[in-house]
Amino acid sequence: MNVFVQAENSSLVSEDTSSNFYLEKIQLLKQKIGKTPLVHIDNVNGSSIYAKLEYYNPLSHSVKDRPAVYMLEAAIKQGLVTSDNVTFVEASSGNLGIAYGRAGKFLGLKTLIVIPSVVGEKTFKRISETGTAVEKTPDGYCPLRNERDGAIAKVKDLFLDDPNMMWLDQYSNQNNFRAHIEGTGPEIWSQTEKRVTNIVLGVGTGGTMVGITRYLKAENPEIESVAVQPQEDHHIQGLRNFSESLEPEIVRSNRDAIDDWMKVSDADAFEATEYLWRKGYLVGTSSGLNYFAARKIAKENKGSTVVTLFPDTCLNSFKLTQEYIVGKSF
Ligand SMILES: Cc1ncc(COP(=O)(O)O)c(C=O)c1O
Repeated sequence: MNVFVQAENSSLVSEDTSSNFYLEKIQLLKQKIGKTPLVHIDNVNGSSIYAKLEYYNPLSHSVKDRPAVYMLEAAIKQGLVTSDNVTFVEASSGNLGIAYGRAGKFLGLKTLIVIPSVVGEKTFKRISETGTAVEKTPDGYCPLRNERDGAIAKVKDLFLDDPNMMWLDQYSNQNNFRAHIEGTGPEIWSQTEKRVTNIVLGVGTGGTMVGITRYLKAENPEIESVAVQPQEDHHIQGLRNFSESLEPEIVRSNRDAIDDWMKVSDADAFEATEYLWRKGYLVGTSSGLNYFAARKIAKENKGSTVVTLFPDTCLNSFKLTQEYIVGKSF
């Protein structure tokens, strides 16, 4: 059965709301998600830098296919799809919304995504094209600590006001990082033939960082993890700086999984994104940030095997990156 054709064809969506029906379809999606390539990018100071190309994931062309499907699967198993009227609502900076919308359409579940207006028309279109409803709130990339996080607050309000709204909350949901404990972590372990020494990743919800690190440290406690933060007032879609934005529950309750923290400026992240484009990787800006940080760790740790992720393509951030490349500022 071709998952992609079905996902695009709403006439194939069934009225059946039994758990088995949904769970069988979830299994079809899970067969297509993950097992992404790990490629060697560079050598520096006797160290090797590898990146996992998460844009090979089929729903959103990003790492967020993994948590989207795990969270929905767990909700279905818990019996949270109680009627045809249930709508799964979530706050997203883009990729989770695309993955959620497309998975929802394939399963025949209603979804509603709330995004901050800063992420722009391209992302809005990519989400709404999946068939989900989309609402915008007037937020920046990093909702400020002492102000209302508009997208999350809006979702909370919708959830509390309407009994048909179901909110799984990717910022605190353990199935977000379980997707990486069961998928991304083991894949990195076997693809590096157990040689990985350092894992370096930017953090949004923290699900990717926490899940991968929990798995790898259980295999080899010597593996070091570095969580990467964008600068204050940044332009990196999908990531958060926790000195200005509230730390998600996933990060707060798993701080022990993180050995070190690094901050990368927008200029360094965008320069690195341009460098990756020239090498043929048409990635988004969080991949540039990840690569810049991984290179620094590789230089500082002679002979290491450093692994990072390229979480998505340039589809969401193309205009901004191109403007930066031409003007060297925002
Ligand atoms: C492009 C991109 N990179 C990185 C991340 C961070 O992933 P996580 O939420 O697992 O920390 C996200 C999350 O939305 C993202 O969209």
